Amino acid sequence: MKLIVEKNYENISRTAANIIADKVLAKPGIVLGLATGSTPIGTYKELIKMYKEGILDFSEVRSFNLDEYVGLDENNPYSYRYFMNENLFDHINIKKENIHVPDGKAENMDEYCKDYDRLIEKAGGIDVQILGIGENGHIAFIEPDTSLPIGTSVVELTEDTIVVNSRFFNSVDEVPRTAVSMGIGSILKAKSILLLANGRRKADAINSILECERISTEIPASFLLLHPDVTIIVDEEAYSKSK
Ligand code: GLP
Repeated sequence: MKLIVEKNYENISRTAANIIADKVLAKPGIVLGLATGSTPIGTYKELIKMYKEGILDFSEVRSFNLDEYVGLDENNPYSYRYFMNENLFDHINIKKENIHVPDGKAENMDEYCKDYDRLIEKAGGIDVQILGIGENGHIAFIEPDTSLPIGTSVVELTEDTIVVNSRFFNSVDEVPRTAVSMGIGSILKAKSILLLANGRRKADAINSILECERISTEIPASFLLLHPDVTIIVDEEAYSKSK
C-alpha cells in the first residue's frame, strides 16, 4: 500500500487527477472505476480541466460506477447517475455507450447484478478504481456486516449511512434504504485502486485501515489491504489520527 499525505483537498484532487491522467494517456481505452460522493468532485473537476485544455481525450475511455440507489433513475437529481452526468460525463467527450452506472430501476435485480460483473469482465476488467470511504469504513455501498457480498448485489444501507447521506436529500426520509453496489470481489479485481479521503470526519475510517492488523468485515475498507496496488491519498485532517 502506498500512502500520500497532502496538505489539503485541492492537492488531493490534483494528485489523484494526475495519476489518472497518466494512466489515460498511457492507455486511451482504459477502463475507469468511478465513485460518487463529495470526495471525488475535485478530481473530476481537474480531469474536466485537462480535457478542456486538450491534454486528455476520453473518446475511447470506458467507465463503470460503483453503485446506485435502488429506485432512482438518471432523471432523479439524487441519483448517482445524475451526479456523474453533472460532475463529469456532461463535460468530457466520453461516449454514452461506454458509460456504465448500475441501474437502480432494473427489473430483475439479481440477473442485472450478475450481468454488471460480467460486463466489467468483458471490458477487460477495471484498470483503475477510484474510491471514497464512508465514515463507518464502507467503500461503495458495502456496509459493515458479519459477511460481505463478493459480487455486485443489492445491499441494505445502515442507519448511519442513511443519516450521513441525507445531507444530499431534502430529508432523511427521502434516502433510499437499499442500493445496488459492486461487491468487495468486484472492487478487489481492479488492477489498481486509488482511495481518497479528506477532512477530520474521515480520520477514524482512515486510521482503521492504516493501523489495521486483522482485516474485518466490520471495516469493509480493510479488505483493500489484500490488494497489491492500492494508493491512499489523504489530507492532513483525514490523517490526523494516524500520525
Ligand atoms: C457514499 C458512497 C461511497 C462514498 C461515500 C463517502 O456512501 N456510496 O462511494 O465513498 O458516500 O462520501 P463522501 O465522499 O461524500 O464523504
